[in-house]
Amino acid sequence: MADERSSGPARGFASEDLRGALGAFATGVTVVTTSGEEHAYGMTANAFSSVSLDPPLVLVCVQSFSEGGDLIRKNGVFAVNILAAEQEPLSRYFASKDRPRGRDAFGEIPHRTVATGSPVLEGSVGYLDCTLSASHEAGDHVIFIGEVLALEYSHETSPLLFHGGGYRFLDES
Ligand SMILES: Cc1cc2nc3c(=O)[nH]c(=O)nc-3n(C[C@H](O)[C@H](O)[C@H](O)COP(=O)(O)O)c2cc1C
Repeated sequence: MADERSSGPARGFASEDLRGALGAFATGVTVVTTSGEEHAYGMTANAFSSVSLDPPLVLVCVQSFSEGGDLIRKNGVFAVNILAAEQEPLSRYFASKDRPRGRDAFGEIPHRTVATGSPVLEGSVGYLDCTLSASHEAGDHVIFIGEVLALEYSHETSPLLFHGGGYRFLDES
């Protein structure tokens, strides 16, 4: 018989239930980018949160043992690009496993660099360009905390949303 002291109370849900519960929380969608001596890199992420106003800190959670996690750690910088509604194709692109990598990762995608060299995507509703302040292993993800060095935003452009496992759009009627 299982020892409850070592195994803890049994979980009363399956992993798809956890995904379902987390998917009930509506979020925006970001593309987290980084660049260093190697190529620039980007990946879609909605596990993004504000952390602190003073100092200005934000976090993103990235799957462990992934190219993105390795590069953010190595480069010590990342930018969070908050996507506009019309950038759904960019979200799909940066979430696909078979997208171009290395020097072709950004192909024809319009972008520039600001403070850290991490790509800032044109047409986004905003970005936060960060130096890596801390990283914490947490289960099968790594929490990257960044100190914001530069930012821009617009509240006039409609953001891309994610809810219930699908893309959503603000109904401003
Ligand atoms: C809307 C959406 C949100 C996502 N959020 C995250 C996230 O917060 N963290 C993460 O590690 N992967 C997230 N992913 C999955 C990654 O974008 C995807 O696995 C990507 O291929 C990772 O890059 P890689 O192939 O270089 O590992 C998300 C995907 C989508 C479509």
